[in-house]
Amino acid sequence: DRLPELLRRMPKAELHMHIEGSLEPELMFALAARNSVQLAYPNVQALRDAYVFNNLQEFLDIYHAGTMVLKTEQDFYDMTCAYLARAQADNVLHTEIFFDTQTHTGHGLSAATVINGLHRACADAPAKFGMTASLILCFLRHLSEEEAFACLEEALPMRDKIVGIGLASSELGHPPEKFAKVFARARELGFRLVAHAGEEGPASYIWSALDVLKVERIDHGVQAFTDPALMQRLVQDKIPLTVCPLSNLKLRVYPTLAQHNLGKLLDAGIVATVNSDDPAYFGGYLNENFTQTFAALGLNSQHAYQTALNSFNASFIDASLRQKYV
Ligand code: HPA
Ligand code: ZN
Repeated sequence: DRLPELLRRMPKAELHMHIEGSLEPELMFALAARNSVQLAYPNVQALRDAYVFNNLQEFLDIYHAGTMVLKTEQDFYDMTCAYLARAQADNVLHTEIFFDTQTHTGHGLSAATVINGLHRACADAPAKFGMTASLILCFLRHLSEEEAFACLEEALPMRDKIVGIGLASSELGHPPEKFAKVFARARELGFRLVAHAGEEGPASYIWSALDVLKVERIDHGVQAFTDPALMQRLVQDKIPLTVCPLSNLKLRVYPTLAQHNLGKLLDAGIVATVNSDDPAYFGGYLNENFTQTFAALGLNSQHAYQTALNSFNASFIDASLRQKYV
């Protein structure tokens, strides 16, 4: 069977990956030592053993604790380079990296420390890793819209280093409508817009991400399958879904990968892509998401080609440059 080899070797773009979720335990301990931060676990193995989650919130709590080791611009640069090296090994030609400034400003860092470190790695990506990388700032939806406005304001001096705005963190109880005004502002400022919707939350959150926030892509979006009218809308308007199968497995959105709906979404004509979400926590980088999911669902080379093509078509790469990739 040559499908796994095809999946690994095909050129692809990654559109849904939180950089703080790429922080491997080894680097976390190294940064903890460098910055004199005490971790709650005695060693790498004990930390990895704690990566068992029943839902999104249990993950977010551990993810948040891990970000405490990030202190300097160099830390953000080093973390991003580590991810880019892994992405290059998976034949990722382009990546759009999520980050959440508010996690770090909440620990006393400045937005500039975060964004400048991340951006320096993205700027080095073509020469160092043979790929392109851009940044998407995600507001934390468990915080208020007022706090999202403050976050946007603090990022504006670094406006040119950010391609888009997204929405992440605890979904249930924090519908997209909560951020209507700040997304409207981001839109006026010319940012590309995305939002997590329909991971644990209902299909109605996908509708409001589209119709209230006016996002161009939906992150996760797997719950769309419960709503035929929404499926029709997504197909008709070619709204991409950035699907993260191993994340959905680890956070128990689906009990097994064999029950994941990626194949059904693709067969329904949805512009679905495959992504790693938080690869250090969810058991695999991009190629691992592809190979495990395709095997579990019995997907074929046509699905492989479609998801790779979708990843470039759904990206925010300039239309004029897109032909370089596909
Ligand atoms: N979902 C929502 N917010 C997140 C995630 C996720 O999987 N990872 C990091 N922030
Ligand atoms: Zn995510």
